[in-house]
Amino acid sequence: MHTLEMVNEIKRLKREKRAIILAHNYQMPEVQDIADFVGDSLELSKKAAATNADIIIFCGVHFMAESAKVFSPDKKVLLPVYDAGCPMADMIDADQLRELKKQYPNIPVVCYINSSAEVKAESDICCTSANAVKVVKSLDSDKVLFIPDQNLGSYVANQIPDKEIINWEGYCITHHRVKCDELDEVKKNWNKIKILVHPECKADVVEKADFVGSTSQIINYVNKSDEKEFVIGTEMGVLHSLKKENPDKEFYLLSPSLICHNMKKTRLKDVYRALKDEVYEIKVEKEIMAVAKEALEKMLNLS
Ligand code: 13P
Ligand code: SF4
Repeated sequence: MHTLEMVNEIKRLKREKRAIILAHNYQMPEVQDIADFVGDSLELSKKAAATNADIIIFCGVHFMAESAKVFSPDKKVLLPVYDAGCPMADMIDADQLRELKKQYPNIPVVCYINSSAEVKAESDICCTSANAVKVVKSLDSDKVLFIPDQNLGSYVANQIPDKEIINWEGYCITHHRVKCDELDEVKKNWNKIKILVHPECKADVVEKADFVGSTSQIINYVNKSDEKEFVIGTEMGVLHSLKKENPDKEFYLLSPSLICHNMKKTRLKDVYRALKDEVYEIKVEKEIMAVAKEALEKMLNLS
């Protein structure tokens, strides 16, 4: 089937099945362009919670589609590629978290949304990269267990020095690869260029950046800036929106390693198949869903 024909079929099936296509900022350009909404994890969670569509096609990775299911248990949530996962989300499971809680009793657990529903169900509140500082600040405790991203946890700890953050040692295999040397090299050659990074990068990279934010916060920063050139320290998928919304500006990727292969698994043909055959349906145990929803809703109620 030709691309144009596929695009038209996707649009027809979407209307016929009352479906909505949500896509993360890291998705392939062809997928972002067919989506009803493109955003960061926080924005996508809000959309998934508010939609009245019957089917949600979630173009992203497993934990994102799972969160959409938790928010909308009566809707059919489909992940177009069944093995599009987030390696960081797999770095802690519910048993490991239960052990950690035993080791540090009565300390609230803040769980990055990049985690399984089971792990969320064991946590007090969720956060995304867009609101982690706000979520931790909101807690009436001077100690916090932060899981699973040590880099986001360290960033939060630097922003809130009066709280002790106990980090789980997980990390994003994509952002963790960015080296401080790569940033130093940029600074040496273009000392005035703005460097914008995601808080999943290592602390030494984050510390030297001009702006730290979620994917959508980085895009909004560029949209509002009068500068003409930027170095982008997050997964390359954001370059699509950045270039589309700012044709007069130039973008350079901070490191060639900024590609998440899981985010790149979903192609237009997968979106088409997902809509046509209604695959791959996300299922979560009812009891887990109910408790995980509380942790997610506490986060949304703060924003
Ligand atoms: P955002 O919170 O910016 O959507 O980032 C999600 C993610 O997986 C980053 O690697
Ligand atoms: Fe997970 Fe990193 Fe990919 Fe985001 S970029 S989905 S945190 S592996």
